Amino acid sequence: MYKASSVFKDESTFFHEYVPPELPHREKQLEQLMRFFRPILTDKFVSVNVSIIGRAGVGKTALAKLFGKKLVEESRRRDGKIIFEYMYCSAARTLSAVLRQVISKNWRKIPITGITGSELIVELNERLAKEDKRLVLVLDEAKLLGGEEIHGLIRSAEFFGYGKARINTIIISRPEDWIAYLQPDLSEDVHTVIELPRYSEEELRDILEYRARIGFHEGVISSEVCDMVAKIASETGNARHGIEILYHAGLIAEKSEEKKITPEMIRIAKNEVYPETSPEILRGLHVHELLTLLAVAVTLRDELAAPIGRVYDNYKVVCEEYGARPRTTRNFRNYLRVLSEIKIINTVVKNLKRGRRTVVTLTEIPSSILEERVRSLLESKAPTDIKD
Ligand SMILES: Nc1ncnc2c1ncn2[C@@H]1O[C@H](COP(=O)(O)OP(=O)(O)OP(=O)(O)O)[C@@H](O)[C@H]1O
Ligand SMILES: [Mg+2]
Repeated sequence: MYKASSVFKDESTFFHEYVPPELPHREKQLEQLMRFFRPILTDKFVSVNVSIIGRAGVGKTALAKLFGKKLVEESRRRDGKIIFEYMYCSAARTLSAVLRQVISKNWRKIPITGITGSELIVELNERLAKEDKRLVLVLDEAKLLGGEEIHGLIRSAEFFGYGKARINTIIISRPEDWIAYLQPDLSEDVHTVIELPRYSEEELRDILEYRARIGFHEGVISSEVCDMVAKIASETGNARHGIEILYHAGLIAEKSEEKKITPEMIRIAKNEVYPETSPEILRGLHVHELLTLLAVAVTLRDELAAPIGRVYDNYKVVCEEYGARPRTTRNFRNYLRVLSEIKIINTVVKNLKRGRRTVVTLTEIPSSILEERVRSLLESKAPTDIKD
């Protein structure tokens, strides 16, 4: 029988995909987004393109999603002509994949092959024009698409004639990625860059109290204990950091059937969370990238760095364990490249007496925790996805 939790009022508010109905200390930026996009509610043919940049856990994804919800509500009250789509680019990887998903979801299934990127752009514009709709497309972790591709998409309307723009974008990235991969191509398209600063300790206190209020029963966490978490999270200015500590501490309390979270539980929970690594990053990985990452974690159980050859041997072992067909070393090197691009691992080339050797290290998460997370993702996949 379902047993009521001793601590959680609504545990799902701690899941990473949950978007709270309010974002304390981001009201101004939400208002700003509303103002920028207001024209597309009435005037169909302007293209609004905004970039949101900020470090890990400062609310970029949450802000974009909450804004989308509000925008669609507002559009429904009028003519319902706005389509809002959120895309996490680490999962989609290419602009074609993004467009294929947007078209498939809203109109018709698009075959995986045989249609080029530019044909997809034409198709998207035509579909929008036919139904007189406007698209607001969020490209989260946009650096994976690169500025050039996004520029092509934004400018595609010109091909259809002046004043026919129906595609609007919100481009999300961390500051260093914005400067390196996006801004050079997009500076003329994006009229506004909304910069989200790191949260201060006081701001985190408000945010965490709010999140505790919607997630926990009353009295589970005292304001002193909440302040303690805010203080820890203020080292990174990252709200996810604090929220994950709250969640883990809640799980500890629940397991021991306690009704209160103690400072000791916070101290334990603190060591279980890794603020720089967003959970979505792992979710965006394909099966063989996950298997490669698992091989890295397994290889680095007892050492800090390992040569690629040894990781590849372990990759073959974990493939066998999960019933997957190992890919060639060339493919394997590509998987490693993806993993180091998203900064979960580092690959370092060492110059030795006899030639050069590449070694692999982990950036932040300890191997045991990484192994656990990757295994649980692999286990959530359908066997047919792993087999082919
Ligand atoms: N102002 C806020 N109020 C309440 N919750 C917040 C606030 N800002 C962020 N959060 C929560 O903190 C977590 C991290 O926020 P979010 O995922 O939006 O960060 P991000 O900037 O996208 O980080 P990353 O660059 O790692 O993707 C989410 O659970 C989000 O709901
Ligand atoms: Mg994010």
